[in-house]
Order: sequence, then C-alpha cells, then structure tokens
Amino acid sequence: MKISGRFITFEGVDGAGKSTQITLLAEALRARGHDVLCTREPGGTELGERLRELLLGMEMHLDTEAMLMFAARREHLAAVIEPALAAGTWVVCDRFTDATYAYQVGGRGLEAARCDALEAWVHPRLKPDLTLLFDLSPALAATRMQANGAVPDRFEREQREFFERVRAAYLDRAQREPERFHVIDAAREPGAIAQEIAAVLGERAWL
Ligand code: TYD
Repeated sequence: MKISGRFITFEGVDGAGKSTQITLLAEALRARGHDVLCTREPGGTELGERLRELLLGMEMHLDTEAMLMFAARREHLAAVIEPALAAGTWVVCDRFTDATYAYQVGGRGLEAARCDALEAWVHPRLKPDLTLLFDLSPALAATRMQANGAVPDRFEREQREFFERVRAAYLDRAQREPERFHVIDAAREPGAIAQEIAAVLGERAWL
C-alpha cells in the first residue's frame, strides 16, 4: 500500500542553510521510493513567484505584506500543495505559515489575531506533518549571508534585532507544538545536520 503524501516544511532565519538540506532530504526520500515535490514560499506558482518579487522588493504596509503572503499561499495550496498531497506526493516546502508568524508577527509586530484570521481563512485544517526549524544566532546568520555575497533582499537588510525577534517567535511556536516541530542547531556543519534530519524521519519510519 502506498503511504499518502506528507507535508514537510523548513523554517528559520535567513542564512540558516535550509536550501542544502532540502535538496539532500528530497534525494533521500526519492531513494526511498517516494514521489517528492520541492517548493517554496512566497512562491511555488507563477502568480506566487510574481508576488514574491513584490514582497521581497517593494516597501508596503505591514497588513499588505501579510495579506500578500497569504494570497500567494492560497494559490500555492490550491494549485500545487493540496493536489500533490492528494496524489500521494511528499511535499517539501521552504517556509510556510510559521514564517508569517515569525516575520510579520514576531519581527514586524503584526497583531497575532490578524495572522490567526488569515490562517483560518486560507488553510483552516492543513498543517505541516513535520516542521524542521533551523535555529541560528542572527550574528552567525549575518556572517554566512555576507560570505555568500548575494545582494540582500528587503528582509535580509533588516537589523539584527529584527532577526532576534524572528528567532524568538519561531522558538516560541516550536515550544507550543513540540510534536510537529523539530529544532535543529544550524550552527553545525551540513553533514551533521543531514544526519540529524535523517534520524528524525527515521523515527517516524519515513526514511
Ligand atoms: P527565503 O526563501 O528564505 O529567501 P532566500 O531565497 O533569500 O533564501 O524567504 C524569502 C523571505 O520571505 C525571507 O526573508 C522570509 C520572508 N517571509 C516572510 O516574511 N513571511 C512569510 O510568510 C514567508 C513565507 C517568507
């Protein structure tokens, strides 16, 4: 019998090293015989990618930012995530709703009730089956981002204190939902992190 698709999300401050691990996890799951779809937020659809450009590039009101994040998410769920899960595909997503709580609520100070309302509208039932939170001090994250040399986007240009609040908001969510979250010390080298992720999925008999 084919196991139905699972929904795995990756979260953490910018520069925490999620991308490498997403690729490695997808390879491991495929080797195990699962169909895997890797996607990201904001983005994952043509419309979502256009919204991403606006979100990462333009100044806007905080409410607008939160609503556009959820608009992109609505499209992503309807066009990509939900059909994939229904077809038994495993969906590995770089960021999801926890990021809105961490960045817009924690980082920017959006009222949590606003985010609750948008979540209840856009995906009242769906939650990730597993969320891997890459935890890293903003100081180390900033060093890594500088080393990688890419031009920083609107979020990456934020001050250290902003990322401290984002980090705290993520950790708070992880504490409230310990079964869904697994917190990873992202200061370690990639090989050790990959092993830890494999072990977490192994415990669930997913790998
Ligand atoms: P990310 O894909 O991590 O950027 P990069 O390609 O530079 O690694 O995420 C893009 C940015 O969007 C990131 O700074 C966090 C932000 N973001 C929010 O503020 N709220 C959200 O709901 C999401 C999904 C992302």
